[in-house]
Amino acid sequence: MKTDKNLSGNSFAGRTIDWDDSDSSVVMVDQTLLPAEYKIIRCKTISEICEAILNLRIRGAPALGVCGAFGVALSAARSSADTVEGLIKDMTVAGETIKKTRPTAINLSRGVDRVLLISEEEGYDPKQMRSIALLEAKKMAEEDVELNKKIGKNGAKLLKDGDVVLTHCNAGKMACVDWGTALGVIRSAVADGKKITVVACETRPLNQGSRITAWELFNDKIPVHLITDSAAGFFMATGTINKVIVGADRITQSSVFNKIGTYSLSVLAKEHNIPFYVAAPVSTIDAENFDEAVPIEMRSEDEIRYIGKAKELNAPLGVSIKNPAFDLTPMENISALITENGVFYPPILMDEIILG
Ligand code: MRU
Repeated sequence: MKTDKNLSGNSFAGRTIDWDDSDSSVVMVDQTLLPAEYKIIRCKTISEICEAILNLRIRGAPALGVCGAFGVALSAARSSADTVEGLIKDMTVAGETIKKTRPTAINLSRGVDRVLLISEEEGYDPKQMRSIALLEAKKMAEEDVELNKKIGKNGAKLLKDGDVVLTHCNAGKMACVDWGTALGVIRSAVADGKKITVVACETRPLNQGSRITAWELFNDKIPVHLITDSAAGFFMATGTINKVIVGADRITQSSVFNKIGTYSLSVLAKEHNIPFYVAAPVSTIDAENFDEAVPIEMRSEDEIRYIGKAKELNAPLGVSIKNPAFDLTPMENISALITENGVFYPPILMDEIILG
């Protein structure tokens, strides 16, 4: 995988993921290196795309959706097929491979399917199909930024000057193309002139909270206090935190699937009468599947067994370790769902949200 040291002077400056026309590659910030290093990596093959997703170089539901879309466009650009059927076959195989990398965030498969579908429906020759695929992926990336701005605007109304808002994992610009969902709401409130302080959970074991959320907010000069995951209850009980906002990887009729630890935070928030908000685009809603049908990604034991790049031992070598990446928060623990279509209060009905 070729790497670029920084984004300055590049047309994708500031974006988490984009397409580079100069060499037909997918470019993205390598989030595993944050906050120590801000480096752009360049994926030119489907195996590089899959490696980047599997190792969380690119992560966060909306960013994964756009990555899936660019991945299919990349497979079209690289395919040597000279017939419509041959190209569809190559794109479908690539799409299925990408979808298998991380199963919980529905946005990944939606991004793949969106580009495949339009290419099949509107493509009449391979050259034109390649261009349709790329245009659709680029359109999706643009839309992501617009949707996040709308989510931000809608959600900012829920925040008051002086609020102290807890967030978990990273639902910021690094989880999207730009702006963010949960952090987008905070950014929009700050842009409206409100003083908001954020409490960011570290988010063990991969520390998206300390490495990415704290980094994003610190860079934007939005006051942020980093805490360990287990300190959240203390700061809720002592009255420091008065709101919680998180993102989502998938929303069914009855639950919000998000980073492991979200459910515990929702129970704590309920106990302390603290509003618990979820900010996510409508594309995260999976109204068809029951909770039992949604796969929870189980990640490597080594993410807990070892600490840091030096792989210092954090647990006995032979001990059993369980590492689910996501959990389910029941809808009854959610005070409101913030989407681009508006803010929805209980009873939260998916059909109503989808229709806007
Ligand atoms: O494992 P990750 O880092 O991909 O998990 C990300 C999250 O859980 C986010 O909260 C979620 O994708 C929403 S991002 C806007």
